[in-house]
Amino acid sequence: MSDWLNQVFCEDALSGLARIPDGSIDLILTDPPYNLGKDYGNDSDQQSVAAYLAWTEQWISKALPKLKPNGSLYIFLTWRFSPEIFVMLKQRMTMMNEIIWDRRVPSMGGSVRSFSSVHDTIGFFVNRKDYYFDLDAVRIPYDAATKKARSRSIFVGAKWLEVGYNPKDLWSVSRLHKEHPERADHPTQKPLEIIERMVKASCPPDGVVMDLFMGSGTTAMAAKRCGRNFVGFELNAAYCEIIAARLASPPEQEMVKKRKPSKKTAKAEQPSTLRSKAA
Ligand SMILES: C[S@@+](CC[C@H](N)C(=O)[O-])C[C@H]1O[C@@H](n2cnc3c(N)ncnc32)[C@H](O)[C@@H]1O
Repeated sequence: MSDWLNQVFCEDALSGLARIPDGSIDLILTDPPYNLGKDYGNDSDQQSVAAYLAWTEQWISKALPKLKPNGSLYIFLTWRFSPEIFVMLKQRMTMMNEIIWDRRVPSMGGSVRSFSSVHDTIGFFVNRKDYYFDLDAVRIPYDAATKKARSRSIFVGAKWLEVGYNPKDLWSVSRLHKEHPERADHPTQKPLEIIERMVKASCPPDGVVMDLFMGSGTTAMAAKRCGRNFVGFELNAAYCEIIAARLASPPEQEMVKKRKPSKKTAKAEQPSTLRSKAA
């Protein structure tokens, strides 16, 4: 087994990428800092606009050669910077979708000088036409009432009715609340439901998913639960501990011991790694 596989390196992704051979990754699935001023224990989310976009261009240039020729990429962004970053990516890849993640934020208060923003913007990009995509793995089953309503003879034997529907590009999935069992102590943790959909659709079984910005390790968990391999990076040592705890728990039991992340910048001098076999 490659010595970098199924590990999360507690180090800066930009230098850590040198560990990964070119053309070895099936799917880059990444959720970089949005540059909205969050405190991740480092200044990655608190850069000037120019510095943030230059840094984004830098990590994109280092990460894309790691993809296989038929590989894909999903990137989480905010509407504030998705236009610029989509343009960067469109110069190198083909854009397949802009997916809107509706976080199902309840209607209360909010902005008074603009409309409240309740979604994240996700870009889905591919390298070339024969990219891997398994729609059947992520179809959404019709409920019994819908199936019954489509019971007229013209629908009998309709494959789409049996196998379920395409999830489309508007994904309404609640953000994680404190009481949610999969919730870890990370300010921008993404729900497994979303990440697993991307993994199942765009990474072949036994393939490799790479996330440059692991946070609480959702991408690694999703890959493990879906029988894929993973590799990734996280700068904050306290988040790396959370990742280790999540990976050590049984995949079906997503109960995470709550930890407070360190406020200190956590660039590990001696990179530690978190290893786990894909399920
Ligand atoms: C938006 S969060 C990722 C959240 C993650 N998707 C989850 O579900 O928990 C971005 C993460 O990137 C990390 N980060 C920022 N710059 C980094 C870098 N250069 N290398 C590695 N990690 C970095 C931050 O510490 C933060 O935890």
